Amino acid sequence: MAESVITYLKQKPSPTSMNFQQALDEVLQRNLSQEPIVRLLGAEGKESAALRRLADEEREKAVGKSTCVHAVLEFSNFCRNDCLYCGIRRSSQVKRYRMPKEEIVQHAVWAVKELGYRMIVLQSGEDLSYDAETLCDIAREILRQCRAILFFSIGQRDFSLYESLKKAGAAGVLYRFETSDRALFERLRPATSLDARLEHLSFLKRMRYLIATGFMIGLPGQDMPALARDILALGKIAPEMISVGPFIPSPLTPLSKHKPCGMTLSLNTIAVLRLIHTRSRIPVTTAFETLYPQGRREALLSGSNSLMVNITPRQYSASYAIYPGRFGSEEEIEKLTREAVEFVKSMGRSVCRGYARDLRPNLSAPACA
Ligand code: 5AD
Repeated sequence: MAESVITYLKQKPSPTSMNFQQALDEVLQRNLSQEPIVRLLGAEGKESAALRRLADEEREKAVGKSTCVHAVLEFSNFCRNDCLYCGIRRSSQVKRYRMPKEEIVQHAVWAVKELGYRMIVLQSGEDLSYDAETLCDIAREILRQCRAILFFSIGQRDFSLYESLKKAGAAGVLYRFETSDRALFERLRPATSLDARLEHLSFLKRMRYLIATGFMIGLPGQDMPALARDILALGKIAPEMISVGPFIPSPLTPLSKHKPCGMTLSLNTIAVLRLIHTRSRIPVTTAFETLYPQGRREALLSGSNSLMVNITPRQYSASYAIYPGRFGSEEEIEKLTREAVEFVKSMGRSVCRGYARDLRPNLSAPACA
């Protein structure tokens, strides 16, 4: 009798201890709520391996082998914000740089014409010294000289600036909400507000920008339910591309003593995202490659389908120190590009540089020629 009660108790999970299979079923059936997601995020060992394998199969079914190789060009590390996690925060003692307009254009055009990139993210801190006219000139001039898909990652700037930039030919924005937990957001990003950021994002979406957004994984003070809510928040935004990355403590910040995010949690997050957003583009972000020696490979095997190569000119890239030791930032750009392309092929995937379906309204199309 006692034994059967124990067996019964083992089989019947309490509402807070859903078993792995139940959690998986809930997510696969799109019964999306915090509990199953928390359960999957906490998967370890064989469960984590099974979750990631399933996500890899989903990726194959939904978007196939096509794996995109895109570029990020960080053109300024000045920032008016003072985010506690970020090494280029306003009060950080980092060496500052701004690339002149002509140099940004020249470098981006070189990356397209000589290295074969089709999609470039132009990123900076929130640097008001680049006004609407300058940013529009940059976009127009790049697009005059070559065909490219330009994403801007420049933070919270005026709506009118984003409107002008869209008219100048920008296709997308990379604009993470960082965390959807209001208290955490306000603690980590002094003088900014989550509502304003989300409102900005929905404005950009209404303007028909392609949206790349996401959050950091393993931020100090971010518990599993908060991370699950970040994943759920993406559902409402329905981005074309999901950009997430593990938190890495920077010695230049007040969070320097905190622990970096563990690899299993990072990979589980990618896998859950793939199970929910089967057709989205989910890049392996630089933080993955920086933190985990096998990060690129493991993320591609857990649902990711894109690589981001840092093409910032090497005289500047060390100063874009959002966290230390950023992957590839010291290596020759040509070599890094070749290696990324070869890596994708070595995994039996096909390389996509963008175009064709990329120019359609939805970036999540299965392949881009
Ligand atoms: N660890 C990981 N990612 C970070 N970012 C900023 N600081 C860190 C850090 N310490 C991320 C933010 C930002 C992007 C450019 O880099 O999510 O949006």
